[in-house]
Amino acid sequence: MKKISLVVSDVSATNSLFSKVSSILAAQVFAIDNVNAEMLCSSSVVVVDFASASGAQLAHLKGVLEQLTETVSIGCVDLSNRQQVVQAKAIGLSELLERDFDGLVVKLRALAGNYAISVLPEATPAATREAVVDCCNTMDQLALAAITQKPFPIRSVAMSVQSVMAVLQSDGMDNWLTAVQSHHSHTFCHSMLVAGYAVAFAKLLGLSEEEQTLLGLGALVHDVGKVRIPLAILDKPGKLTREEYALVKRHPVYSKEILDGRPEIFPAVRDIALQHHEFLDGTGYPEGLSGDQISHLVRITTICDIYSALTEKRSYKQSYAPRQAYGILFDMTEKVDQDLLRKFQPVIFKADVGAVKRRPRERVVR
Ligand SMILES: [Fe+2]
Ligand SMILES: [Fe+2]
Repeated sequence: MKKISLVVSDVSATNSLFSKVSSILAAQVFAIDNVNAEMLCSSSVVVVDFASASGAQLAHLKGVLEQLTETVSIGCVDLSNRQQVVQAKAIGLSELLERDFDGLVVKLRALAGNYAISVLPEATPAATREAVVDCCNTMDQLALAAITQKPFPIRSVAMSVQSVMAVLQSDGMDNWLTAVQSHHSHTFCHSMLVAGYAVAFAKLLGLSEEEQTLLGLGALVHDVGKVRIPLAILDKPGKLTREEYALVKRHPVYSKEILDGRPEIFPAVRDIALQHHEFLDGTGYPEGLSGDQISHLVRITTICDIYSALTEKRSYKQSYAPRQAYGILFDMTEKVDQDLLRKFQPVIFKADVGAVKRRPRERVVR
C-alpha cells in the first residue's frame, strides 16, 4: 500500500470524515497548523479538508503543497460551494472530491491500494487462500458497515465462517495460521486467528453446528469497536503510550455503541463482542461482570482471544510459544474457565503440553 496523508484544520474532531478514513486505510492525519513538506513528502497521496481554515492557514498550506511535486493532492470540499472550489484551486490542489466517506475511500483505494487485501505465501493451499481472501473481504465490509452505520453483511460473515470451518477440515490449522499471519493488519490477522481457534475449539467440544457458527461469527466481529481507533495506533510498530493503550481498551464500549440496535446481530455474537475482556473473578472490563454472568460462548472466545494475542507476532513484542501462552492462561486461575482451558489443549498442541516455561508477562493488545 502506498502512503496516504490527511490534512485537516481540527485533528481532535473524532467523528470527522478523516478519522473514519484513518480507521479503514493506513493513513496519517496532520493538522494544517503543524504540517510541513517534510512530513508529507513520503506520501503518494495527500488529502486536504480545509473547512473552517483561516486565511493564514490556507496560505501556509499553499506553501507546503507547492513543495510536493511528486504527490497527488486531493481537496475534499462541498462541490456546490463555489467559494470552496475556488479556494481549493487557489492553494494548488490538483483534484477535488465531494466531502463524502464512500467516494473518498473508493478514490484512495484506487490510488493507494486496498488495506484489506493480503499477499499470501505462495505455498498457501488453494482452498485456504480462497477462504482467507473471502474473510478479508468480509472483515472489510464489516468495518465499512460499522463506520457508515449501514446494516452488517451478516450472511457474508456466516458464509466466511463456513469456509473457515471447511478449510480447517481440508487443509488443517497450520495452513490457516500461516496464511492469516501474513496479513499486514494486526486486527485482520487477529480476528481471523481467533475465528480459526474458536471454530476448531467449538467442534472439539461437540457444540452444535449453530453454536459453532455463532462462535465463528462472534470471533470475526469481536473487535469491531476497533474501527473507532486509528490504524496508526492499532498497527503502530512500537509500544503504545499509556493514552493510546487506554484508547484501545475502550474498544468493547465502542463495539456496544456500534452493535446496539442492530437486529441483524444475534445476541450471542453481541455478548462476545462486548464481554470478551471480562473475567470470571470480576476483574475484567468494561462492565466487571463475573461468574455466571459470562456465558459459555464468551468464555470460549476469551480463551481463544488471549491465546491468539499472546502467540501473535508483533514488531513491538515477542510472540509467546504455545506452551508459554498456555502457561499464562493456566496461571489466570480465577479469571478464565480452567475446565474449558484443559479442553483447549488439543486445539493448540499436537502432543501433550508437558512442562510449561514461564516468563514475565508483557502488555498484550487483544
Ligand atoms: Fe478485544
Ligand atoms: Fe481480540
